[in-house]
Amino acid sequence: FAFTPANQAWAEAQITKYPEGRQASAVIPLLWRAQEQEGWVTKPAIEAIADMLGMAYIRVLEVASFYFMFQLQPTGSVANIQICGTTSCMICGAEDLVAVCKEKIAEKPHTLSADGKFTWEEVECLGACTNAPMAQIGKDYYEDLTVESFTKLLDDLAAGKDVTPGPQNGRYAAEPKSGLT
Ligand code: FES
Repeated sequence: FAFTPANQAWAEAQITKYPEGRQASAVIPLLWRAQEQEGWVTKPAIEAIADMLGMAYIRVLEVASFYFMFQLQPTGSVANIQICGTTSCMICGAEDLVAVCKEKIAEKPHTLSADGKFTWEEVECLGACTNAPMAQIGKDYYEDLTVESFTKLLDDLAAGKDVTPGPQNGRYAAEPKSGLT
């Protein structure tokens, strides 16, 4: 693994932000940039970041494996679907969304679909409980999902169509309620 020249320069700039002896504080931004570059956090990337920061490999792996935002296995070329499975979403139908993922993507989480386009996983609360059930895809939230709207969302993504983040039933989409902006 090697950062691209632009990412390497960016990474070195991050490291200089911290006082001497505290370079390990840059571990999360460097892991994030490695994931953005490669699609997931590879073992060679963890080794390279450990070398850059003077950290033991296991310390960097501990950080990468603690946060579910870091992917430690290959993700779908189109998207990794993160279904919130915490209380509000679970009550409002998250298990139905997981069933769609099992049928359309793969039986087990963190497993590439047959066409390599998707992976899925269940994650903890993403803070959009009022619009449960919801999923994060890339950096966007897709909320107020139903089996029908979620299935269409996956189909549209697979077909390369534009999709619209936010509440999929349109609530608040036209004009936010007073006090909610
Ligand atoms: Fe799903 Fe909070 S419980 S976003």
